[in-house]
Amino acid sequence: MDPTIPASYGAIENGALGVTGGRITWLGKMQELPTYKSENIRDCESGWLTPGLVDCHTHLVFGGNRAREFEKRLQGVSYEQIAREGGGIVSTVKATRKINADDLLKDAALRLSGMTAQGVTTVEIKSGYGLDLENEIKMLEVAKDLAREENVRVSTTFLGAHALPPEYKGRADDYIDLVCKQMIPEIAKQNLANAVDGFCENIGFTPTQIRRVFEAAKKHGLPVKLHAEQLTDQGGAILAAEFNALSADHLEYVSEGGVRAMAKANTVAVLLPGAFYYLKETKKPPIDLLREHGVPMALATDCNPGSSPITSPLLILNMACTLFGFTPEEALAGMTREGAKALGLGDEIGTLEKGKNADLAIWPIDHPSELSYWLGRDYRPTRVIGGNIESVET
Ligand code: NIG
Ligand code: FE
Repeated sequence: MDPTIPASYGAIENGALGVTGGRITWLGKMQELPTYKSENIRDCESGWLTPGLVDCHTHLVFGGNRAREFEKRLQGVSYEQIAREGGGIVSTVKATRKINADDLLKDAALRLSGMTAQGVTTVEIKSGYGLDLENEIKMLEVAKDLAREENVRVSTTFLGAHALPPEYKGRADDYIDLVCKQMIPEIAKQNLANAVDGFCENIGFTPTQIRRVFEAAKKHGLPVKLHAEQLTDQGGAILAAEFNALSADHLEYVSEGGVRAMAKANTVAVLLPGAFYYLKETKKPPIDLLREHGVPMALATDCNPGSSPITSPLLILNMACTLFGFTPEEALAGMTREGAKALGLGDEIGTLEKGKNADLAIWPIDHPSELSYWLGRDYRPTRVIGGNIESVET
């Protein structure tokens, strides 16, 4: 380590970490390590050991892709305009309804492998491209199956209030009825989601409609989160904070009042520089204000076929630094400690602390700032999940 750079990141140099029963049970300087049987010791070869990355906002499961829409946008048609003309999210809804669960899983697994190859050990996956009970359940089940097949922890989020399905055109309140009275109760009953999300936007749902969704979620004991203030200020962050939301996400257009409300409610700001970049947004989320008010700032890929077709968490760390002015240390915390909080898993994962799950990434690097620095570098860190060391192909 460069001696001119102060040891930060809460790092322990020449450290060691003990794991028992899948949890971290010892942490400290290598010289102080209690005696372990040598066959149980793993040498990390002067690499850095970090918490496994937590990608706390993704729409990883979907049918088709929107590369043609990308071409249109490059010709000057806006994301909003495409959505209003029946493209955008609704075109992915059509493709997701058509595809069977096996193919949906295969497509998603391919994208997920890009993330795990870069150290992700927990991923949040939202529904929201089914928009009817059967297809929303199909998406959530596929998301849960991914955890079994891909050696990753998955946290699922029900995003029924993502867009208005075509069959409800002109009847948004009736669709919200369906979300609140049928979908949320059934999804809660089948234990398919860890949280409920919505898209509060002029091309999504109004604060009044989202309030109803949040009330239904609360009634069924599910925590909430919200796509808030991505394109306009709708007062979504204030609404989210009122319901003690785990997170409010995007936040380019959040007001100071929204930031204050989030700070008070301990709602995490999930910032998504990939969508900011992809939509060529020019208004940045108010990073200084969020810092000033002590709002935890998480980062995520927002992997989705429209606004952020990105499967690289490390690219997001770099974008957070270059586009939003994060420090590399804040960026790493954003995709570990703060990402875990945004999922309500702050006591379980996200830092290297005694008692937490031993979810780790072992990186062949000299300093953690490298994780935000290189673009496209194929590190392939060794991942450890609940103490199980991933076998690495050589
Ligand atoms: O997080 N903003 C709404 N939802 C997604 C985009 C979904 C899509 O375009 O398919 C987002 O940016
Ligand atoms: Fe999103």
